[in-house]
Amino acid sequence: MKDLRTIILAAGKGTRMKSQVPKVLHPVCGRPLIQYVLEVAKAVGSLKICAVLGYQHELVRQSLPKGIVSVVQKNLLGTADAVKSAAAFLKGYRGDVLILCGDTPLLTKETVKRLIQKHRTAKAACTFLTAVVDDPTGYGRIIRGKAGAVLAIREHKDATEVERNIGEINVGVYCFGCPELREAIKSVKLNPKKKEFYLTDIIEILVGQGSLVTTVETPSAQEGLGINDREDLAVSAAVLRQRILKNFMVEGVTIVDPQTTYIAADVKIGEDTTIHPFTVIENDVRIGKNCVIGPFARVRPGTKIADEVQVGNFAEVSRTHLGKQTLMKHFSFLGDARVGVKVNIGAGVVTANYDGKNKNVTQIADGAFVGSDSILIAPVKVGKKAITGAGCVVKPGTVIPPQGVIVGVPGRILRRRKD
Ligand code: UD1
Ligand code: CA
Repeated sequence: MKDLRTIILAAGKGTRMKSQVPKVLHPVCGRPLIQYVLEVAKAVGSLKICAVLGYQHELVRQSLPKGIVSVVQKNLLGTADAVKSAAAFLKGYRGDVLILCGDTPLLTKETVKRLIQKHRTAKAACTFLTAVVDDPTGYGRIIRGKAGAVLAIREHKDATEVERNIGEINVGVYCFGCPELREAIKSVKLNPKKKEFYLTDIIEILVGQGSLVTTVETPSAQEGLGINDREDLAVSAAVLRQRILKNFMVEGVTIVDPQTTYIAADVKIGEDTTIHPFTVIENDVRIGKNCVIGPFARVRPGTKIADEVQVGNFAEVSRTHLGKQTLMKHFSFLGDARVGVKVNIGAGVVTANYDGKNKNVTQIADGAFVGSDSILIAPVKVGKKAITGAGCVVKPGTVIPPQGVIVGVPGRILRRRKD
């Protein structure tokens, strides 16, 4: 099999986002846009991946995982110029080059695999991805000859009235033979209207010199969505959210109401856990098996929940570990807490983890019973099987011994609980 290297175009500012943040760093389902594309690039077997960065390149570079090469496109002179700026990455290389855009988070690895396969079996100079959409406004249109062969991609701004009615658009995903790409890109001229070098012009160049150009169509129109503005962002989030939920269901998680459940892309949930409606689970969260989460729960980043835990209505957990069989069934907040096994967190319990300067840790050991409305002002240690009385305010620095009982405001340690 031939080698595959991938270039991801991500230098643009994303003017239409109206944002200080580079477009590819806008999060969707808890993950920056570019992350979805990187994942596809890896999944289709890219041996090397190079991201072309420009606008706020330092910031974007920091978000890239290790092993991803990046180059800076000095002046944003268009998509062909972006590919040219990765010349060093392709130097001496003779395999296939996959080109992706950093702003197409709905693209699937299955479709890109199909594209690469077709490119190789057809022995084409270039194979690119098209989609048939209801509203092609803004996209490059696919111009075909009478027999259906591709002739060119016409950018929206340069298209005639008739061409603008074409519903088949360019997704911005291309597979090239590297030698053919290297040669043809030299002939791309500056587009007089936009003052940019269009990568899409390469299609007409290749066709003109008699090279084979083929296409693959996406199975659904939505897969080709390129994020240009906030509305696109919301559309892609809705699609990705349902994909994420579907995956969980396939893996044995009950999602009672997919319409009102929000789970980020990088969450792990064990079998036979039930997620009730109106629940938000953010990224970097792990939940075990046989748990019950929600309704109306918010599980925030850095949280690890063991098996058989219940987190009920109006409960919020942030950067917190909950041990096996711990119950937190009613409105309460745990932040920066390390909670052992079989702990009961009563209704209205709050860890006051932030003192205005630092986030402090609350430790609650196995079998502890934290009474309703207890306020634990961190740092606090609640010993094994200790009890806090209802409405108790535990001052910072308090260490409640194993089986200790603390009550009152401020909390006083009274005695030891009997076994
Ligand atoms: C591009 C395609 C269009 C296609 C659409 C799909 C061109 C000329 N047009 O248009 O045919 O239908 O994508 O979404 O290619 N970028 C750089 N450097 C630049 C300019 C852009 O890296 O100088 C990157 C952007 O960051 C982005 C990608 O290239 O990730 C596409 O750029 P964008 O400006 O969104 O192109 P479109 O106008 O959408
Ligand atoms: Ca775009």
